[in-house]
Order: sequence, then C-alpha cells, then structure tokens
Amino acid sequence: MSRRILFVDTFTCLGGAEISLLALMKHLKAGRYVPHLLTSTDGPFPGQARKADIPVSTQEFPWFSRRRPWRYALSIYQLVRIIQDSRIDLVHANCDHSLRYVMHASRLARVPYVAHVRDFVRTWFQPGKVVALNQAMRVIANSNAVAHACVQAGVAPSRVTTIYNPVDVETFRAVPATAGTQLRAEVGIPAETLVVGIVAHIQPIKGHMEFIQAAIQLADRVSDMHFLIVGAPATGESNELFLERLQARVLASEYADRFHFTGFRSDIPAVMKAIDILAVPSWAEPFGRVTVEGMASGCAIVGTEAGGLPEIVTDGVDGLLVPSRSVDALSAALYRLAVDSELRQRLAQAGRRTAQWFTITDHVEHIQALYDAVLSAH
Ligand code: UDP
Ligand code: GLC
Repeated sequence: MSRRILFVDTFTCLGGAEISLLALMKHLKAGRYVPHLLTSTDGPFPGQARKADIPVSTQEFPWFSRRRPWRYALSIYQLVRIIQDSRIDLVHANCDHSLRYVMHASRLARVPYVAHVRDFVRTWFQPGKVVALNQAMRVIANSNAVAHACVQAGVAPSRVTTIYNPVDVETFRAVPATAGTQLRAEVGIPAETLVVGIVAHIQPIKGHMEFIQAAIQLADRVSDMHFLIVGAPATGESNELFLERLQARVLASEYADRFHFTGFRSDIPAVMKAIDILAVPSWAEPFGRVTVEGMASGCAIVGTEAGGLPEIVTDGVDGLLVPSRSVDALSAALYRLAVDSELRQRLAQAGRRTAQWFTITDHVEHIQALYDAVLSAH
C-alpha cells in the first residue's frame, strides 16, 4: 500500500533546505511513498518540484494576529482540507514558519507529523516552536550539532534523530574537468591559476566578510591566485547592502581584478570544478551542503570548526578546520594549501571518499525507515 506524504515548506526560493528536500521527494521509493508539496506561493522551489511531477499546492500562512485571528484559523482549516482531500498519511514540516500550522492541522486531521530542523541560527527555538517540536512524532536534525541544539532548547532527546543531508555525489564526481576550464574562461580566470572559492547565499553568517579580508591578505602573498564568490544575496535588503560592502572592500584593495562575483549559479557541479580550494567560513553552519559538494568535486576544503562542519570534515585528513570568524586563521590555512600542492591533493582525495557518506540513497533509506516507524506506531 502506498503512503502519501505531505511536505510543507513556505519558503519558495532554492536554499539548502529546499534543495535537500527536493532530493528526498524525487527519490522516495516509487509506489511505496507518494510525495505532495505544500508551499506559500509560486517560485523556483515549487517550480522544480512540478518539473519532477510532484503535485504542488499553495496556500497563505499568515502570522497570528490578535486583531485578525480568523485568518490564522482559516489557514489551519485549509491545511486540514488539503490533508483530507489528498488522503495524506503523514505530514513532514521542512524547518520553517509552517510548523505550528502543521501541528494544529495534523491534530485536527488525526495524522502524524514529523519536523525537520536544519538550522540553529534563526528563530527556531522560540517557546511556541519547541512545543510544536515536542508534539511531532519525530524530529529530524541535519547534524548532531543541530540535534544537540534541539535538546538544549527543550526537545525530548528520545524524539530527535540525526539524518545527514542528501547530496548528489555522483553528479558532482562525474563532471569533467573541462567544465571547470570553461567556467574559468567565462568569468575571466586564467586556466592554470589557483582558484579559491566561496559558494553560499550572501549574508554575514556565511563568513563572506572574513573570506574577503583573508583573500586580500593572501593576494598580497600569493600572486597567482584568483577568488571566486558564487551566490546571490539571501533574501532581505540588508543582504543586498552587505554585498555592496563586500564589493566596496574589494575595490578599495589593490587586487580587484582577481576577485570575481558571479551571482547565483544553477550549475554548481561545474562551478566546483573551477575551484581548487573551497572555503566554508560560516560562523556556525548547521550542516553545509556545499562542503560535501566541494569534496565530491575534488576541492580541498577549509571550513570552520563550528556547528555541523566538524562532523563532515576531519581536520588534517579531508580538509582543514579553523576557528570561526578568525580572518588570520582562515588566511593562514588558505596559504598553507596554496603553497603545498601535495597537501591539497591528499585532502581532496580523502574528501572524495568522505563525500560518499552523504549519498541520496542512504538519506532516503533512513527517512523511509523513520516514516515506517512513525506510521506503524500511529
Ligand atoms: N547554491 C546554488 N547556487 C548558488 C549558490 C548556492 O545552487 O549560486 C546551492 C549550493 O550548491 C547548495 C545550496 O545552494 O546546494 C546551499 O546549501 P547549504 O547547505 O550549503 O547552505 P544554506 O544556504 O542552506 O544555508
Ligand atoms: C539550512 C542550513 C544548512 C543546511 C541546509 C540543508 O539552510 O543553513 O547548513 O545544509 O539547511 O539542511
């Protein structure tokens, strides 16, 4: 008998949480689980789901307001209708604003729900959210660091399970080196130059400012090196301004011609091939898909020893770890790799093996086993 799973995620852009969820929805065992996505409006994320023939519904998720409580109640009622009309067996909330709506609607419709927690930076652990996490049949954390944060916030440890994100390791591995050469030519980087890259939605917590400062120090010491900054500002006007500040910092240095801002790219497997050293200088990355993508592509990784990154990277074995928010430590680690091609190769080779721990197949199997346990207990 097939089980119908309703995924709820109100965010409509393609962040790591959405890319991870798409991989899961697309690879659920056909015939056994049927995915259905509920989101808030149209956008790139529901667009990708539709392309994969996953049915998509949209509805509003208005904030609770004492002046207009009926709008909130109505949206819960709409969600109950979707659960009933689509004969949903289980609801899976993907780490966002929808969690409390899912809690109320699932209770009314008498179906179980699970909650995915992928973040500890934003407002995840407000009291109302913790209540909704504790009512979920299971809480899925994308790293042990996030699982620990859930427990610290008051979620019962017995509910929390770590399941690492799925990365299409094979696609990243299989891209030919020529894709990187072409990309370098497109952005104006010489083919033989050493490239240090950062791939992340642009916002302070991803460590872009530390990256730019470390890169400027490095540009002073290593002449044959370029810097690739891939990603668009994360949503919010402050992130647009942050990008302007980063660009101004580069322009004020003597090395502006060695920095390349590409904006958002939808060809990250090719982008990774253009990068020799991938920096992941996030202040505290809950998981960090790009780390595994870089490893699968054969980049040498420099990450921060914070959040979930130490669960992926073992310092000195398949990457280097530096204290978070330290420009000097980041610059020193990048320098170490810049001048030592043997070390770069050794780390990259080990990184390719590490990436194999994060395949889509393993992720999907773990999630399906969790669904089965929840459905049989319900
Ligand atoms: N990404 C992308 N294009 C870009 C920048 C990033 O497709 O220009 C992708 C990247 O390949 C990764 C995801 O966005 O799969 C970011 O996920 P991650 O977990 O690293 O960070 P998040 O943005 O979720 O905090
Ligand atoms: C969040 C986290 C990121 C994680 C992604 C997918 O966006 O910031 O670290 O990889 O979710 O779970």
